[in-house]
Amino acid sequence: MKDEVLAALKESGDYVSGQELCGQLSVSRTAVWKAVSKLKEEGYEIDSVPNRGYCLLTAPDAMTEAEIRSYLHTEQMGQNLVCFDDTDSTNIQAKLLAEKGAPHGTLVCSDQQTKGRGRRGRAWDSPPGEAIYMSLLLRPGIRPEHASMLTLVMGMAVADAINELMDDSLAGIKWPNDVVLKGKKVSGTLTEMSAEMDCIHYVVIGTGINVNTQKFPEELNQATSLRLTTGRNFRRAELIALCMKYFEKYYGLFEETEDLSLLTDEYNRLLVNQNQEVRVLEPENEYTGLALGINNQGELLVRREDGHVEEIYAGEVSV
Ligand code: BTN
Repeated sequence: MKDEVLAALKESGDYVSGQELCGQLSVSRTAVWKAVSKLKEEGYEIDSVPNRGYCLLTAPDAMTEAEIRSYLHTEQMGQNLVCFDDTDSTNIQAKLLAEKGAPHGTLVCSDQQTKGRGRRGRAWDSPPGEAIYMSLLLRPGIRPEHASMLTLVMGMAVADAINELMDDSLAGIKWPNDVVLKGKKVSGTLTEMSAEMDCIHYVVIGTGINVNTQKFPEELNQATSLRLTTGRNFRRAELIALCMKYFEKYYGLFEETEDLSLLTDEYNRLLVNQNQEVRVLEPENEYTGLALGINNQGELLVRREDGHVEEIYAGEVSV
């Protein structure tokens, strides 16, 4: 009920009478009053004036279910929503939910993580109140070897979501899926999968976004946040909902072909490495070349000095 009252107040942007809310939501006045009291406890400032009703004045930057739902307009992605104040890792929680049968599109969010994990076994610093930690559970009917492309799909969704909220479209992608602002990393994604040889049980796409972070530990000198780049704060719930909007759109296009052929143009438009000299760091092989963009499989095409074009499917490139 709280979620519906919040959504109605947000949609109106003005005073809404108790009677109108009761009619719209088919509930009693007491139920409306209780929902408003709960929202106030969560930090929403709601004015109540006799004969005029309720008006939402300010909302906290909370990553609660009610707040995220008030921005969410997807059909599937994030519709089953699980929010924590604190958890070990949203990827761990999403995998537990997957084992219990949670549906495709389930989204797990947390305000902080005690065991946040990054790629290559690194830790992911996850303090409270300033960033997004979210994991999306998918049950795609695709071959296991195609699942890694989903990470690139999420990278595009995050970059486009950030760009929708910023005045300049500053967010780009560093292959394969780091989202960067002015050359510094603002978001990373860790994708995990449970599969057999020829079928996927589920995929968990875990993404961290530095939103209102004002200071990073010294060792994270290549990290930035939306706040540090623009000087203003952003609403995390709104950004999560936008990520889900773009992910749903791009996932639909990915599913049509089971590759990135309908998405390469958009991805390459966002790719900060495109037409740049890159250094390819493979386990026993390092070389420089010109990054040309990705192919339909999400591999980075790099032209070496001798003209040969390599298809990089794993590993890291540095600019
Ligand atoms: C990277 O190393 O770039 C990937 C970072 C992924 C971090 C996110 S935060 C939400 C989810 N839970 C985790 O433990 N990791 C991912």
